[in-house]
Amino acid sequence: MPKIDLKTLKNQAKKEIEKSKDLKQLNQVFKKYLDKKGELTRILRSLEKLPRAKKVELGREANQLKNSLRIQFDKKARDLKEKIQKETEEKEWFDITAPGKKPILGHLHPMTLTKRKTEEIFQAMGFSVVEGPEMESEWYDFDALNIPKDHPARDLWDTFYLKNGLVLRTHTTPTDVRYMEKNNPPLKIITIDRCFRHEATDASHETNFYQIDGLMVGKDINVANFKAIIQEFFQRFFEKPIEIRMRPGYFPFVEPGFEVDMACLICGGKGCSACSQSGWMEMMGAGMMHPNVFKNSGLNPKNWQGFAFGMGFDRLTMMKYKIHDIRLFYSGDLRFLQQF
Ligand code: PHE
Repeated sequence: MPKIDLKTLKNQAKKEIEKSKDLKQLNQVFKKYLDKKGELTRILRSLEKLPRAKKVELGREANQLKNSLRIQFDKKARDLKEKIQKETEEKEWFDITAPGKKPILGHLHPMTLTKRKTEEIFQAMGFSVVEGPEMESEWYDFDALNIPKDHPARDLWDTFYLKNGLVLRTHTTPTDVRYMEKNNPPLKIITIDRCFRHEATDASHETNFYQIDGLMVGKDINVANFKAIIQEFFQRFFEKPIEIRMRPGYFPFVEPGFEVDMACLICGGKGCSACSQSGWMEMMGAGMMHPNVFKNSGLNPKNWQGFAFGMGFDRLTMMKYKIHDIRLFYSGDLRFLQQF
């Protein structure tokens, strides 16, 4: 007769149930004690051989144990299931009301921002935006603009001469000639485009830079028109009242020619280190289009007159955003670009 120790079995089973970490383990414990081949079943079977009184007593105890173990199993199974559910919920839970993570998008370069703004301002004043080629012929870059071959004025522009006989345009004024060849006045255009000069690079010079050129031609367009338009442009561009002044200046393709200064943005004209204490900042070259340029563009200078102006667009953008080094525009440095 095997020894029947229900108490030890009870304690052992209880401990094992409690220690089960998951349903698989719990199942194994169930099999070990309560299954058809389990220990408790084996005990119940072995009772048959006992004397009646003992059989009844142990039978009751064993059945009670069986029931209580079943209850413990069920409870443990429920607990484990709950635990699993809670864990998955915690793992998979997400807050649908939380704001999403924004993907990192690119954004516009500061020069593109000012280019768009400038085009908008001039378009609102009736100007069209046009383009010209970056590889230009000497004719358009110089000759047509009243700068003959051996004229020393060519030295004003340090030019990249290409093997194919063309040059990298040194300014955007050639686009004015190209436009006048194909379009009859009255006309109002601007072009904001890339130019190249063979220059040493420093905080205010780059071999690759941008210029804006403007042209307005009609029967009686004059310097007063120019002054009004350019002043209006500066005010809209810098979003504050701005004073300008004009000084005589030499450019072979205009007569008279002038340089335009703007009251210093930093000190408002009082004089500071940014404007070398003068109160003024040099902004652009301009003038009344030279009769030779009209002729070279196929227009009769007796019938038409107008102004042209040209200005460094990098410089304009630098003043708008208070950027101190032109090279930042072309460096691709994200620490700089992400500020816009
Ligand atoms: N193209 C000239 C330059 O590059 C600027 C300019 C344009 C001057 C139009 C007068 C008229 O310096």
